[in-house]
Amino acid sequence: MRLPAGTVIAVDGPAAAGKGTLARRLAAELGLPYLDTGLLYRAVGRRVLDRGIDPQDARVAEAEARALTPEDLARSDLRGSLADMAASKVAAIPAVRAALLDFQRRFGAAQGAVLDGRDIGTVVFPEARVKLFITASVAERARRRFLELTGRGVAADPAQVEAEIRDRDAQDANRPVAPTRRAPDAFEIDTTALNADETFHAALAFIRKKLRVIA
Ligand code: CDP
Repeated sequence: MRLPAGTVIAVDGPAAAGKGTLARRLAAELGLPYLDTGLLYRAVGRRVLDRGIDPQDARVAEAEARALTPEDLARSDLRGSLADMAASKVAAIPAVRAALLDFQRRFGAAQGAVLDGRDIGTVVFPEARVKLFITASVAERARRRFLELTGRGVAADPAQVEAEIRDRDAQDANRPVAPTRRAPDAFEIDTTALNADETFHAALAFIRKKLRVIA
C-alpha cells in the first residue's frame, strides 16, 4: 500500500489491548517508523525508581524526563508490575508529559510514523490522518498479559495481573491531563474475539478506506 507522504497513524487504547503488536506490524507493512510511546513513560518511571524516589514526585520525575537517553529506552527492566505502575504515575504529571511531547511530535513529523500510546490521537497528533482505538475486555487483556509474562519466564498470578490492569486503566483514564480517550474520529476495534491477524486485517481495511488507497 502506498501512503501519502508523512502519514501519521495513531494507535491508542487501554493496557495490554494489543496496541504494540498491531502498531509494529502496521509499521512494517506500510514502511513507516514505529514509536512505542509507553516506553518513554516506562523509562522515566524507572529512572525515578532508581533514585529511590516516589514516582509521584513531580519535580524529580520532570527532571528525569528531561534527562532521558536512547539507552534508557533499551533497558530490559521496563516491564513488570513495579515498572508498569511507576510509568502510569509519572504519566499523570503534566510537566513529564510536556517534556516528552516534542520528541514524539518530531518523530512523527519527520517522515510519518505509527505511534502507539494513550493520547496520540487526542493530544500528540490530533490531526493524524488515521486514528485507531484498540480495546478488549479486561479479562481478555489480563489473559494476554499473563501469557506474555509467563512466556518471558516471569512468575505471575492471573488475578493480580487483572487487578493491576484495572488499577492502571483507572489511573490513566481518570487523570486530568491527556487521559486515555477514543478521539471522536478514531476507528475502534474491539479485539476481545479477534486474534492478532484478524486485528491487523481490520486495521488495514480501515486504513485503505480512510486514505482511499486501492492497491
Ligand atoms: O503495554 P501497556 O499497554 O501495558 O502499557 P504502555 O503502552 O507501555 O504504557 C505504560 C504506561 O505509560 C501507561 O499505563 C500510561 O500511564 C503511560 N502512557 C501514557 O500516559 N501515554 C502514552 N502515550 C503512552 C503510555
